Amino acid sequence: MVILKTFKSSLCIVSVFLFVFFIVLNYNLLSESYSNSFKNMLQLGASERNVDDLFPIKFYHIAFVDYRTNTPRLRIFSINGCLRNSKYLNVDIYQKGMRTPTRMKVYGRPLEGHCPSAYWLATPCFFSAHTFETHLTVTGGLTKVVIELGLRQVELSVQEIHNPVQIGITMCVQPVYYYTQWQNIVLYIEAWRAQGATRFIVFYHSSTKDTRKVLDYYQKLGIIELRPWPSFGNLPNDIAEKYPNIDNSAYIFAYFLALNICILEVKTTIGAVIDFDEIAVPLNGTTLDYATKEMTGTNVGALIFENNYVSMNPSIYTSDFSGVSSPTFYSKIGPQKVRHSKFKRFISYLLFQFIFNASVIELCQVHHVESFLDKSKITKKSDGALLHLRFNVNSLKANTISKPFRFFPNNASHHIENMHETVWNKVKSIFGKTPPPVSLKSLNTFNICEKRSENQGMCHGATCKSDMDAVHEWVYDRTEGVFLSGEY
Ligand SMILES: *[C@@H]1O[C@H](CO)[C@@H](O)[C@H](O)[C@H]1NC(C)=O
Ligand SMILES: *[C@@H]1O[C@H](CO)[C@@H](O)[C@H](O)[C@H]1NC(C)=O
Ligand SMILES: *[C@@H]1O[C@H](CO)[C@@H](O)[C@H](O)[C@H]1NC(C)=O
Repeated sequence: MVILKTFKSSLCIVSVFLFVFFIVLNYNLLSESYSNSFKNMLQLGASERNVDDLFPIKFYHIAFVDYRTNTPRLRIFSINGCLRNSKYLNVDIYQKGMRTPTRMKVYGRPLEGHCPSAYWLATPCFFSAHTFETHLTVTGGLTKVVIELGLRQVELSVQEIHNPVQIGITMCVQPVYYYTQWQNIVLYIEAWRAQGATRFIVFYHSSTKDTRKVLDYYQKLGIIELRPWPSFGNLPNDIAEKYPNIDNSAYIFAYFLALNICILEVKTTIGAVIDFDEIAVPLNGTTLDYATKEMTGTNVGALIFENNYVSMNPSIYTSDFSGVSSPTFYSKIGPQKVRHSKFKRFISYLLFQFIFNASVIELCQVHHVESFLDKSKITKKSDGALLHLRFNVNSLKANTISKPFRFFPNNASHHIENMHETVWNKVKSIFGKTPPPVSLKSLNTFNICEKRSENQGMCHGATCKSDMDAVHEWVYDRTEGVFLSGEY
């Protein structure tokens, strides 16, 4: 996890706790002062206005029509400044066989529940991920959606979301953002496929050339689907100078946006939002069988897997995967005595990842489900484990312990052979030479930069591009037309 990677020293952990305490405090104050009636007053108040061409906003190029509920819902995703008093979009809905569009008012909300974010590292960020949604009364299929922003218009294409029927797990991988060790990807694909994953959706912002080559290799095999996650680009000229640059003032490239878009694209019964360095495994059998058994015919909509740091001997970064058959586990890292219960819950969120029933998921946060479409569904703690690779786990000074969990449900040696085949034999087609070593220099550069932006109270990690460009030649996604602000 991006967030966990910053937990480098005990000093850092102490400051993390202080900050979390502060958020909890803030959160309480906010929820108390904004009583429901006050909120309603804001919503019904005379200050209601449409989002116009002077408002800083960019839209994801696809609008989704979600047919998983009885009344279909239109969902539009954006990155923008806080909406403050109730702002709505004027949206023209174009339907098959209808000449004139239907105009609708569509209201928005921040994906994190708060704007600016209540998460301390993201609080200084000016731009936050939002969703605008409305129930659709129209019957026919939609052909396009046009947002009228005063003098500008933004046209979005439309994608329909239906209840998934294919049995399997779809993995959503948050934007690959600078530092991803390519060996992690090889293990991730091999282990998750053995656990029942059938589809991999990978949002891509930037990586080393070697990591990109490995992603391209799996994409050519049809195993992963890359989704472009480029720079957000500038706001239109007439308002650009009034606001911060979006890329420099959106939290770690607004991955709340990518992950909530991805969970809609899951076409399998089960989905997961899990990073390249994490594999969720059950005690016995495959993750797919275990999760299907736990969720089918029950009120369980998601299962959380508790974090376990593991390392391998030899390290997989030597491109020798033989250590994967018996990973080393570490005792829990970090302060054990947390008294404040909210505080404890917040911290514990950081130590879990989850998989979910794709028919019922509505919104998710980075480490937990925010809401289900079916309000009777709950999240349950699994008796499985999240195997979380940490290249520097030894420096965390934790004791090693033994646990019954393994990366593969069976036949580990067969999977290890597969991985060796991929990196040593197929590698000529990937790298054109022997597997290249992984340099940790650029990761340190990112950590130092993140620390600096935190100390300066700046939007976390967002302004690291020049630091990163100074130490390595990165492959950036440069797809155009992903984030739109409209034409006059
Ligand atoms: C694991 O699952 C298999 C098949 O479902 C079963 O036969 C076996 O007894 C289980 N092993 C344990 C340790 O639970
Ligand atoms: C997902 O939830 C739906 C609705 O409750 C249910 O019919 C289905 O069996 C669940 N699927 C899985 C894999 O849990
Ligand atoms: C394990 O994998 C090998 C191939 O490496 C295969 O021949 C063997 O049948 C597999 N065993 C089981 C129990 O699946």
